[in-house]
Amino acid sequence: MIQDSEFTGKVVLVTGASQGIGLEICKQFTDLGATVIMVARNLEKLEAARDSIPNNSDVHLFHCDLSVESEIVDLFSKVRERFQQIDVLVNNLGAYSEKVDWNKIDHDLWIKTFETNTLSAYSCMVKAAEIMIEKGIKGAIVNLGSSSALQLKQGRMHYSVSKASVHTLTKVAALDLAKYQIRVNVVSPGPTATEIVQSRMGDPVQVLQEAERLKKIPLGRYAYTSDIANAVVFLSSSKAEFITGAILPVDGGYTIGETS
Ligand SMILES: NC(=O)c1ccc[n+]([C@@H]2O[C@H](COP(=O)([O-])OP(=O)(O)OC[C@H]3O[C@@H](n4cnc5c(N)ncnc54)[C@H](OP(=O)(O)O)[C@@H]3O)[C@@H](O)[C@H]2O)c1
Repeated sequence: MIQDSEFTGKVVLVTGASQGIGLEICKQFTDLGATVIMVARNLEKLEAARDSIPNNSDVHLFHCDLSVESEIVDLFSKVRERFQQIDVLVNNLGAYSEKVDWNKIDHDLWIKTFETNTLSAYSCMVKAAEIMIEKGIKGAIVNLGSSSALQLKQGRMHYSVSKASVHTLTKVAALDLAKYQIRVNVVSPGPTATEIVQSRMGDPVQVLQEAERLKKIPLGRYAYTSDIANAVVFLSSSKAEFITGAILPVDGGYTIGETS
């Protein structure tokens, strides 16, 4: 069991933190004593998200666009100046994408998807690892992957490829950072009941599609955001000190196969 004080004195940075899975991750880390840095583009949304966290006295907001490298450089320079350390990075940011036929994905969409899902994770990881190495911190990095990289579906080529690249990026980085005792892992959610997923339920066609999808989850329900956050916190904690390069599906068995 993780102690209530597991992250006391630790600085945790969570990207894509103003809603959904990212917000729940921030809530769990604040409950365990962490200084939490929440990052997203829209400051008003970030403020509302922070206000929804019960223990928010040590929660700090930074708004920037993480698909732009110069904004990432600026973010980590401010974090270094203000906090002097970073113990945990959660690359939660990931852009949901509508279905697009295999031959209709233009270069702009490929680039946007990779900038948001893959390159942002890479650049944040490099910047966080630089601080960890400089300060001798045996840190943890958790990247959010997706069942879409494991259970392939037509119409999601760009999203699946970008998330598969996050999985591979994680394994290679785990090798590169092992000599500094920095661990890098993936939590790979299956369908999760975030606000966005729930809002799609207003559309009758979507309701039917989601009902079909539900049948394919062996444990019989969507993930709660807390299911995903539990796994992220575990992999960031001392209880996972010998785990690196792992891809941990948190999907109720969705990517194993189908039940009959
Ligand atoms: N929900 C699912 O069913 C599911 C399933 C599998 C995997 N995942 C993965 O889990 C992670 C979280 O998913 P989610 O559904 O909770 O996300 P979400 O609800 O779409 O939230 C995305 C967050 O990222 C921020 N954001 C978007 N673009 C940004 C940018 N360019 N720079 C900085 N911040 C940005 C958004 O705030 P702003 O708009 O204000 O920037 C928001 O806080 C993602 O990596 C996703 O791919 C989710």
